[in-house]
Amino acid sequence: MNEKEIMNIESLYLANVFSKKPLIFTRGKGVLLWDINGKEYIDCASSYGIAALGHCHPKIVTAIKTQAEQLITLHSCYYNDKRAEFIQKLINITPKGLNKAFLSNSGAEAVECAIKLARKATGKTEIISIMGAYHGKTMGALSLTWDKKYRDPFMPLIPDIKHVTPDNPDKIHEAITDKTAAVIIEPIRGEGGIRVPIDNYLQQVQEICNEKGILLIFDEVQTSFGRTGKLFCCQHWNVTPDVMCLAKPFAGGLPIGITIARENIMSAFKIGEHSTTFSGSPLVCAAGCAALDVLIEEDLAGKAAANGKYFKSQLEELASKHKIVKEVRGLGLMLGMELRYDVYGVIMKALSKGVLVIDAGRTVVRILPPLIISKEQIDKVVKVLDEILGEEENERSSSTVSN
Ligand SMILES: Cc1ncc(COP(=O)(O)O)c(C=O)c1O
Repeated sequence: MNEKEIMNIESLYLANVFSKKPLIFTRGKGVLLWDINGKEYIDCASSYGIAALGHCHPKIVTAIKTQAEQLITLHSCYYNDKRAEFIQKLINITPKGLNKAFLSNSGAEAVECAIKLARKATGKTEIISIMGAYHGKTMGALSLTWDKKYRDPFMPLIPDIKHVTPDNPDKIHEAITDKTAAVIIEPIRGEGGIRVPIDNYLQQVQEICNEKGILLIFDEVQTSFGRTGKLFCCQHWNVTPDVMCLAKPFAGGLPIGITIARENIMSAFKIGEHSTTFSGSPLVCAAGCAALDVLIEEDLAGKAAANGKYFKSQLEELASKHKIVKEVRGLGLMLGMELRYDVYGVIMKALSKGVLVIDAGRTVVRILPPLIISKEQIDKVVKVLDEILGEEENERSSSTVSN
């Protein structure tokens, strides 16, 4: 198939729900991607955080190949060696107390499970979410997501969801009633613009939840797996939630969702009350074992902390040089550069110059590279962004003059 045919067929037969860019990628290795014409790109998007290990990590490739010849799928009503190995490795690294998990296939599914679990474990229905939050687009997860453009076309959503202002524990306090089951929070809001919480916020929310007997759910779908410089983002503030939602990179790029909770909470589910036929397939779990091994052996959290600090400092230099940059935010390799206007043009220009970045809301350039990105690659990306910001400033000032 040639380029035109590929794009035509995708457009013709796939639901038109993705904001497509006119590029066809056919190969990836580490931090790099190649398009169909062999042009090289530095991937600072990682498929929205999935490719944390980089593309086609040799250990993931070997694990998938080996397991594919052994056993690909097996329903969770039977036991499996790779599933046991994966869950053991996961429990070994999750914050103490989070030791009972449900395996699914995506971030939204991890959140769906958390919603059902909160209702079942507490016998209550209300969930407090945060303005600006993103938790996915299935009906339950969507009900917790804030952006009206995602929610409004699908009303009515599930009832008893309240959204409160971020970074203000009093607002959570005020929203709690005797029907409240849980509070759900992304420790750093991703889609909402890479928003790091103010000091003590998460600790204070935990105190409120403890005092009121309400579950604290952290959605770490984007912030975990070393991304922010710690294995789990909540470890920056020493707050362990009652339930945690994970997904994206945990199976080295294969689909996975994980809802992990304190044992007394997860035990609220009785047989048959929650399931998916794909739960914990041997192939996904084999890839997951390899992914967790690489995460620990290559100290990816440490790398994200060090390289993220360097990356952020370089972006801050750009901010001091280019007035159109409003702010640089983030932790580790979860970074955002907020501009004073829409970032679409910047993202498209970056693509044309061989760098993949994504947006986080209308005005934020989101940078989520594989955690193995090198300093040299960071320098190249910063150089490209520097050029683009300069071009944008020139274009804007010349259009102002000609106006
Ligand atoms: C914090 C958070 N929660 C949930 C989701 C939904 O995950 P998925 O797209 O795998 O359903 C995302 C996806 O970006 C996310 O960032």
